[in-house]
Amino acid sequence: MVAIEETGHGRPTAEVLADVRDIVAPALRAAVAALPPAPRAIAEYHFGWRDEHGNPVSGASGKLFRPALALLAARTVGGADRDAVPAAVAVELIHNFSLLHDDVMDGDTTRRHRATAWSVFGTGSAILAGDALLSLAFDTLAASGHPAAGDAARRLDTAVQRLIGGQSADMDFERRTHVDAAECRAMAESKTGALLGGACALGSAFGGAGTAQVEDMRRFGELLGLAFQIADDLLGIWGDPAVTGKPVHSDLRNRKKSLPVVAALSAGGTESGELVALFTRDRPLEGAELARAADLVEMAGGRSWGEHETAALLQQALDHLRRAAYAGGPASDLAALARLATRRDH
Ligand code: IPE
Ligand code: IPE
Ligand code: MG
Ligand code: MG
Repeated sequence: MVAIEETGHGRPTAEVLADVRDIVAPALRAAVAALPPAPRAIAEYHFGWRDEHGNPVSGASGKLFRPALALLAARTVGGADRDAVPAAVAVELIHNFSLLHDDVMDGDTTRRHRATAWSVFGTGSAILAGDALLSLAFDTLAASGHPAAGDAARRLDTAVQRLIGGQSADMDFERRTHVDAAECRAMAESKTGALLGGACALGSAFGGAGTAQVEDMRRFGELLGLAFQIADDLLGIWGDPAVTGKPVHSDLRNRKKSLPVVAALSAGGTESGELVALFTRDRPLEGAELARAADLVEMAGGRSWGEHETAALLQQALDHLRRAAYAGGPASDLAALARLATRRDH
């Protein structure tokens, strides 16, 4: 077990993320450039590389958090960046496939500070662009020629099937009046944890890790993913849309049973009861009801539950990282990235 820098005095995470972007972004752009013209144009818009007319733009794009996990996971087990780049690209392609479809499912019109792809190009075209990225992810692994590629494709498929199962549950819960904490946790672990776990598993496998080490890295990513989703759920209620680039209160409007909301709905007491009454109405929440619902989630303890839970999940995740790591420096970078993910503002 290696020592992991816990004080936060290691390399700044912004520097690590910029480094990852320099390595992964060119390979990601090259992969997307091979798509047919129509899905390519939508994907390049969605990634923030072009406007809706196809003109190059720069600015709003994703954090590349999953590629960062994949590359740092490879470094942590003693592997080289160049070996892990196809894994990093593949997980980012899957992530963006899921976002293109997710914005259709959630009816959201803003992402990364811009109009969502479906709201600009239409639902059918956005779905097809997502499909193109899904297929491209598996092609990227196959084209790598890496000895672990076959196994990685099967791992990635497992993560995607779990993501789809989680997204199905997330939608199903909108229509249900009661969701318990265990099924809600399983939903979030599947829709988000599975792919973050997959990023760490694929990165470490491409970096040369053995089965037990890959499994610890996968579990690290999965627990971190659950914390990441809870942080996202809190930002969806109390985040600043000018910083998150996403709409605020969309989850409440859709009566999403996210983990902090389920904690508040099942807390008992007056505020929790009022929240249950709002959530069991037969129409979406609107206007002042949204602000009231946000206050009720907080008063019923959902916000503080979420903050404590993300901190606890981070510690559980780091236990797995310590077991898997060979190299202290990269593991400390990975730990710092994990801490940032649970305390982020966007
Ligand atoms: C958003 O993921 C979807 C969730 C799983 C919560 P990110 O917050 O990683 O999105 P980008 O890629 O940085 O925009
Ligand atoms: C996150 O979905 C999980 C996937 C996209 C698979 P959410 O709906 O919770 O994420 P945001 O808030 O739209 O990014
Ligand atoms: Mg969404
Ligand atoms: Mg969603």
